[in-house]
Amino acid sequence: VKRIFSGIQPTGIPHLGNYLGAIESWVRLQDEHDSVLYSIVDLHSITVPQDPTILRQSILDMTAALLACGINPEKSILFQQSQVSEHTQLSWILTCMVRLPRLQHLHQWKAKTAKEKHNGTVGLLTYPVLQAADILLYKSTHVPVGEDQVQHMELVQDLAQSFNKKYGEFFPVPKSILRFSRQEYCSGLSFPSPGDLPNPGIEPVSLASPTLAASMKKVKSLRDPSAKMSKSDPDKLATVRITDSPEEIVQKFRKAMTDFTSEVTYEPASRGGVSNLVAIHAAVAGLPVEEVVRRSAGMDTARYKLVVADAVIEKFAPIKSEIEKLKMNKDHLEKVLQVGSARAKELAYPVCQEVKKLVGFL
Ligand code: TYM
Repeated sequence: VKRIFSGIQPTGIPHLGNYLGAIESWVRLQDEHDSVLYSIVDLHSITVPQDPTILRQSILDMTAALLACGINPEKSILFQQSQVSEHTQLSWILTCMVRLPRLQHLHQWKAKTAKEKHNGTVGLLTYPVLQAADILLYKSTHVPVGEDQVQHMELVQDLAQSFNKKYGEFFPVPKSILRFSRQEYCSGLSFPSPGDLPNPGIEPVSLASPTLAASMKKVKSLRDPSAKMSKSDPDKLATVRITDSPEEIVQKFRKAMTDFTSEVTYEPASRGGVSNLVAIHAAVAGLPVEEVVRRSAGMDTARYKLVVADAVIEKFAPIKSEIEKLKMNKDHLEKVLQVGSARAKELAYPVCQEVKKLVGFL
């Protein structure tokens, strides 16, 4: 059987990248599968300093945002990572199975420690091992993530395999589910079978819908199309949050970096800025990239930016008002997390016990 697991850090309101890269697939997957868990990974968020009052609020804000995006606690288990202590227990066991250089070579560690002037915490270094524990603790088979998590997923796959080699077949080796790009993997409208994909650890999100053809594995920064859109970008204009006001959204798209060609085309390799806008537009409008490009024939990029802004505003308006409603009912949000965490604990406890037996603790 398939078990789907994914997580998101409660550090601020989700942005377009989180939404298109992950959350939108989460919503679809909970309808298609019986065993689905989504975690607000608060343990991960303290790998960089957090103010306790803000963190407490951010956990509830993220809960409201996920519910407003369509995560339904009747269909999936929505829970708070720190409330299921087995995550840290399994994390320790896995930490003792991974060599230091393996972690030091991961892109995110290198990028983040460069920012922290090579003074990152040990937690920041071992962060991907905790991620492995999150996933393996539920014997998960599939993990919907954005492309930035693929390298972490390779580590998770390696850890599952080394554990199985040492202690006997126990963990399934989980696959990433990426919202994939037809340009790279497919020709025409026929979608590949997972075996045709360049990396067998990755599965396309859905084999049916051509609207997924937009290259949304990674939403780029609006200010620098070579970088991913990120919560921590110091340039406020780079990142569109789902709760931004229509005025902010228009301003951010108006200032989006494009090039000196005024035509709207989709050429991610040579025209990253415009192509990012086309991909975002296609994804939020639920249209194939070709259709979006066809509809914008004759339009210059300045005008087109406003069209994309409008499409994003329209997509997020109902979510934004739902978040505001949900945020007024703090008790409800706390209850959702409590119930979810208790359900997750029920699944996690027996697996953790078995692991402890295998390792020789019991
Ligand atoms: P986080 O909180 O940074 O991001 C949550 C999800 O959003 C995706 N994402 C993007 N997708 C496309 N374009 C972007 N610009 C973009 N930015 C973010 C991420 O790929 C992710 O899927 N380490 C994880 C959290 C985590 C986790 C896990 C995920 C902890 N344990 C177990 C899966 C399974 C993280 O920091 O995601």
